[in-house]
Amino acid sequence: MAALLEVEGLTKSFGSLRAVDSASFAVEDGSITALIGPNGSGKTTLFNMITGYLSPDGGHVRFGGREVTGAASGSLYGRGLTRTFQQARVFTQLTVEENLTVAAGYSWRQLFGRRLSRADRERVAVLLEEFRMSHVADLYASELSYGQRKLLEFAAVLMSQPRLVLLDEPTAGVNPVMIATMEHHIRERHGAGVTFLIVEHDMPFVMRLCDPVVVLDRGHEIFAGPPHAVQSDTRVLDAYLGS
Ligand SMILES: Nc1ncnc2c1ncn2[C@@H]1O[C@H](COP(=O)(O)OP(=O)(O)OP(=O)(O)O)[C@@H](O)[C@H]1O
Ligand SMILES: [Mg+2]
Repeated sequence: MAALLEVEGLTKSFGSLRAVDSASFAVEDGSITALIGPNGSGKTTLFNMITGYLSPDGGHVRFGGREVTGAASGSLYGRGLTRTFQQARVFTQLTVEENLTVAAGYSWRQLFGRRLSRADRERVAVLLEEFRMSHVADLYASELSYGQRKLLEFAAVLMSQPRLVLLDEPTAGVNPVMIATMEHHIRERHGAGVTFLIVEHDMPFVMRLCDPVVVLDRGHEIFAGPPHAVQSDTRVLDAYLGS
């Protein structure tokens, strides 16, 4: 497998805090790669730099063999790199169906004028069906449970037909049934050729789903390898036990 995403020496400081400290790792095309690490180890900051929400102080990001360091989030979205947020971001004042529609790049004006291409209308319908959300299609996102909002956010990023999806804690604050649903949808899309990089604290979830696992500690990668090796790695144990 070739690397779809390469992160090399990525660095970001907030004042005197080096939140990400020369982090390097690769995400192979076709993998479900986990990025784990203790609270505050820089996972979300890394996601923000990779996806164009924060500019790095140093280092490189390559996507599909091309340098994309510092590229804007919209341009990366167009190239097939997208993400979800630790606190689900959906438009609460729009319906479920409208959330999927705006994710296809339509302006709100087009949305209400219903000038959608047939292909996009069909994609919305397919996603509503696939995510079993047809019965809530006309509900406002504000009326959904937190877990359903996370699911909607995931469905919405799929509107762009991405090659790589970054998920920031997809199961946090979500009930066990919804966790299983989320896992099911990740597996389905992975089977259809989408590559994933997933930040997650739920270790059983990571062990079931992800290979390889990259571990970040104080902004730097300290381990990258198969899930069975991560639990017995002394550097990883030390990082989690805080020694
Ligand atoms: N905008 C910011 N300004 C100042 N400090 C920040 C900012 N964003 C993150 N930090 C700090 O950078 C460090 C890394 O934060 P980050 O959110 O990337 O960690 P994380 O690994 O995602 O943690 P968690 O598992 O709790 O989500 C933390 O010490 C955090 O307080
Ligand atoms: Mg985080």
